[in-house]
Amino acid sequence: MPQFRTLDDADLKGKRVLCRVDLNVPVADGKVTDATRIERVAPTLREIMNKGGALIVLAHFDRPKGKVVPEMSLKPVAAALEEHLGRKVTFVFTDWRAAPKVEVGPGECVLMENTRYHPGEEKNDEAFSKMLAGLGDIFVNDAFSAAHRAHSSTEGVAHFLPAFAGRAMEAELKALQLALETPKRPVIAIVGGAKVSTKLDLLGNLVKKVDALVIGGAMANTFLLAQGHGVGKSLAEADLIDTAKKILQTAEDAKCAIILPLDGIVAKEFKAGADSHDYGIDAIPADGMILDVGPLSIDRVRSAIDDAHTLVLNGPLGAFEIEPFDTATVAAAKHAAERTKAGRLVSVAGGGDTVAALNHAGAAAGFTYISTAGGAFLEWLEGKPLPGVKALEVGK
Ligand code: 3PG
Ligand code: MG
Repeated sequence: MPQFRTLDDADLKGKRVLCRVDLNVPVADGKVTDATRIERVAPTLREIMNKGGALIVLAHFDRPKGKVVPEMSLKPVAAALEEHLGRKVTFVFTDWRAAPKVEVGPGECVLMENTRYHPGEEKNDEAFSKMLAGLGDIFVNDAFSAAHRAHSSTEGVAHFLPAFAGRAMEAELKALQLALETPKRPVIAIVGGAKVSTKLDLLGNLVKKVDALVIGGAMANTFLLAQGHGVGKSLAEADLIDTAKKILQTAEDAKCAIILPLDGIVAKEFKAGADSHDYGIDAIPADGMILDVGPLSIDRVRSAIDDAHTLVLNGPLGAFEIEPFDTATVAAAKHAAERTKAGRLVSVAGGGDTVAALNHAGAAAGFTYISTAGGAFLEWLEGKPLPGVKALEVGK
């Protein structure tokens, strides 16, 4: 595991501290509707202020693509940040076309306007990175969920200032290390979701690292086709059957057990409460769609979780957004949370729909760690280096 400088190594007193966080939070009618990402970075921001740093917060919001798009201003988020920090947060508008003037004293906090208003941000433009670096004396990155982007404020700036990992970044890196780099074995991964095509690299990497891989969700259907089962009218990617076969072969070579559905809950229409029945995987009706894995499969997943010491979870096992097709996703999440609470399992989850599914199951609090990251968590599961993390490594 590479070494990172953390806030423990930083002398913050009297320094201008540039802190990159991820404030790409859902906003409706000018109000933040889910403040999870704000809550996660609040301890870092408070610590910097408490230690006498003059805090300059950098973040992006949505994808304005280098233009000033008023609907993508971070201003509404400043109010939520202030509320969660319990400290005054001064919002600084800038179009970033010239270096903004920033007045902030020790123990105070400003939030800068959306860094993506500048066209150089997403290009990791050196001149923009230097403009950002000019605002501070040291750089703290607490935005793991944006670390898969090699942008000026996540990567470039780290080359021009002493760079440190914030507390949330530190916690993410520790949790991920615990899950895949130095895990207590056996390790099981549960991967669900709609499409194999979006998770090819992820599956290819995981089968080499974990002892068992549960594949659920609609993407399991492509694997079932590869094994010669019929899946009726279920969502599947017939053009990826050969790819699925290759993944199954890689898994066999790596001695990773692949756990596919044994039965499926089948309905004729995709809607809440649709009439549905459980069918064995060899007997899926031609006019039906598999919308969840069935009770036999749930039992199989539960016992696979029991056999493991470490779990990595990404994606739902069924169409969890509509009842009753959330049954397997909820059952697996609850079981993992119980094993974790009993001290038998280290459980780490993240990426896309996963957090929503765990919240829906009421199981989120039971997990060892839940990442706030979507794309960054997936890229980490794919085994790709994350540029924002790399730039923080000691010696870089
Ligand atoms: C996210 O919301 O996943 C991160 O903030 C990254 O945002 P992006 O996908 O627009 O780069
Ligand atoms: Mg995104």
